Amino acid sequence: MDNIFPVEIEKAYRLLNVGGTTLVSAKCDGVCDVMPATWACPLDVLPCKATVVVDSSHFTRKLIDKSGMFALQLPTVGILRETMALGSVSKNDDPEKVEKSGAELFYMDGFDIPLVKGCAGWMIFKRVPEPHNEQTYDLLIGECLGAWADARVFKNGHWKFESAPSGLRTLHYVAGGNFYAIGDAISV
Ligand SMILES: Cc1cc2nc3c(=O)[nH]c(=O)nc-3n(C[C@H](O)[C@H](O)[C@H](O)COP(=O)(O)O)c2cc1C
Repeated sequence: MDNIFPVEIEKAYRLLNVGGTTLVSAKCDGVCDVMPATWACPLDVLPCKATVVVDSSHFTRKLIDKSGMFALQLPTVGILRETMALGSVSKNDDPEKVEKSGAELFYMDGFDIPLVKGCAGWMIFKRVPEPHNEQTYDLLIGECLGAWADARVFKNGHWKFESAPSGLRTLHYVAGGNFYAIGDAISV
């Protein structure tokens, strides 16, 4: 927690640029949920916006629809098991899903949205209502209200996986419980 610092909003899109699997979290009326979503993407730089596909059957989606808020964060190798657990069970079926997953939650001052410890970066969004996209494609758009990162791996607007502990590498999902951890840096 000591390593978490705010990310300048004009650089926040870079958190999502590397294409890591995200964790989507939301809260409404004191009930919270978290689920992984691989289909998350930057949409605009300033104001910073992003899209994420959250199926209408998911419990997390109901919380987003009701609260108008959600968070995206980038889980790391260090919380691979927790990430998979959050994506293997629905809160529709098990009200204690989040507690049983082992994921530890925390809050940023001024925001009543649970965030997951052990991620590389965190972004809190206000839903931008687009009913057609939401109903037809389960595609949600959010405007970023705040972003933070673990300074060991993202600092001054740049990822630095090369020098960070390997447990802080982002996760890149294939299917069936198989992921890649982010690989080498290449510059051109
Ligand atoms: C690695 C991973 C990535 C996933 N990506 C997505 C996604 O992009 N969109 C989606 O709607 N569901 C996705 N899922 C499925 C949900 O995370 C899963 O169904 C979850 O249990 C829903 O939880 P909830 O009903 O408590 O919200 C993914 C699952 C895994 C394991």
